[in-house]
Amino acid sequence: MTKSWRLKGPRIMVEPPGPKSKAAMKRKEEFVTGGLGVGLPAEIDVAEGPFLRDVDGNVYLDFTVGLGVLNSGHRPKEVLRAWKHQIDRLDHICAMVSMYEPYLRLAEELSRICPGSLKKSLILNSGSEAIENSVKIARAYNKKRWLVSYATGYHGRTYLGISLMGKEKPFREGFGPLLPNVKLVDFAYCYRCHLSLEYPSCGLACADLIEKAVAAPELKDDVCCLVMEPVEGAGGFINPPPGYWERIKQICDDNGIVFIDDEIQTGFGRTGKLFGIGHWKVEPDLVATGKSLSMGLPIGAVTGKDEIMSAPASASLGSTYGGSPICCAGALEAIKLAKRALPNVRMIHSVEKKRLNEWKERFEAVGDARGLGAMMGIELVKTKKRKEPAAKLSRDIQLNCFRKGLYVSSGGYFNNVLRLHPPLTITKRLLETGLGILENALEEEIKGL
Ligand SMILES: Cc1ncc(COP(=O)(O)O)c(C=O)c1O
Repeated sequence: MTKSWRLKGPRIMVEPPGPKSKAAMKRKEEFVTGGLGVGLPAEIDVAEGPFLRDVDGNVYLDFTVGLGVLNSGHRPKEVLRAWKHQIDRLDHICAMVSMYEPYLRLAEELSRICPGSLKKSLILNSGSEAIENSVKIARAYNKKRWLVSYATGYHGRTYLGISLMGKEKPFREGFGPLLPNVKLVDFAYCYRCHLSLEYPSCGLACADLIEKAVAAPELKDDVCCLVMEPVEGAGGFINPPPGYWERIKQICDDNGIVFIDDEIQTGFGRTGKLFGIGHWKVEPDLVATGKSLSMGLPIGAVTGKDEIMSAPASASLGSTYGGSPICCAGALEAIKLAKRALPNVRMIHSVEKKRLNEWKERFEAVGDARGLGAMMGIELVKTKKRKEPAAKLSRDIQLNCFRKGLYVSSGGYFNNVLRLHPPLTITKRLLETGLGILENALEEEIKGL
């Protein structure tokens, strides 16, 4: 039987971090590397639906859902049941040793639901591993050298991941030399357009620059792939304008560049479509998934066109735990839940859009309110006119929310974006409660400037 905690909240018993959480943070300092940053100083001991409970008894409303992982909230019974059923039959065998039904069923399902005509999959342990393998597969396919990605993007923390991004602190600092033959380009970050243009009169001039970049003498005819996120997640929930990805895909097709769609954060309903790229008329060549694919156990996958996925030599890909029976069995249920949650994303979007835009009108510090579906956030600035990033304010608001019982994440390329990741299954009442806490924190922190 699955235990139900019937958590209700938010409910603050002792101002967080309470004494037990403080003690846990002390142990963390002593026994865990300082290289692992912990955003909110609590020890969480129970999670259920949209709630978290810490060891001091505080209950929080969770708008981070494990960094955009649990699109259907914590511990949905369907996924728990699938894990338990599977663990009673087969725990692990390794897909490189023998095949098993959950792996095959998940591969078939990914081929059915992924955008475009994608056929074959490789199932792995994490998003980073999905990106690593996507690039290896693309290289095996066209044998070209250069990798192109966006400076404000995020594709994980491996050497390839940090080579594909431009954010130095904290991701790349001290870890060089990074991988060669990576060309970083500017994203369609309309709020901070590097060409000082405005959509639609810009005519997507930023895409023309990418066309120029791949035609430069060093790169010409030697670009293997473009790695992109339909909406940049860690970069600060940056959604490019209509027409942008169609234009970029055309550039990729014209130059024989494999278009790798990183759906690790945008996937499984977060943007209001099953995959973020569904907001544009684009068929990717490879799709990388992770996070909400499994709803709580480590997973990643690459799904792609038959001819590309068939390029790597026999036995050249694999991983000991990749696509474990338990993760795959849960993922099959998680996909069903993601499909079921899609209509609720429309409610989340309309409630958040209205509220976030009101804040943009009302507060000088809210420079931009943006996003698709349930992937929305606000960008904080010192002044609207000059748009200087207000990173400290973003962090202060995040901590203020924490003290009031709301988990929200602060990030973005300039560390000044409050990003909302409510579970896609949240009720309107709880969504309003969370937004009310955030509004209160905004008022207090902005007044205190
Ligand atoms: C878009 C994107 N790609 C890749 C990754 C890396 O995934 P993982 O942390 O599972 O390795 C993340 C994680 O945040 C992500 O958001």
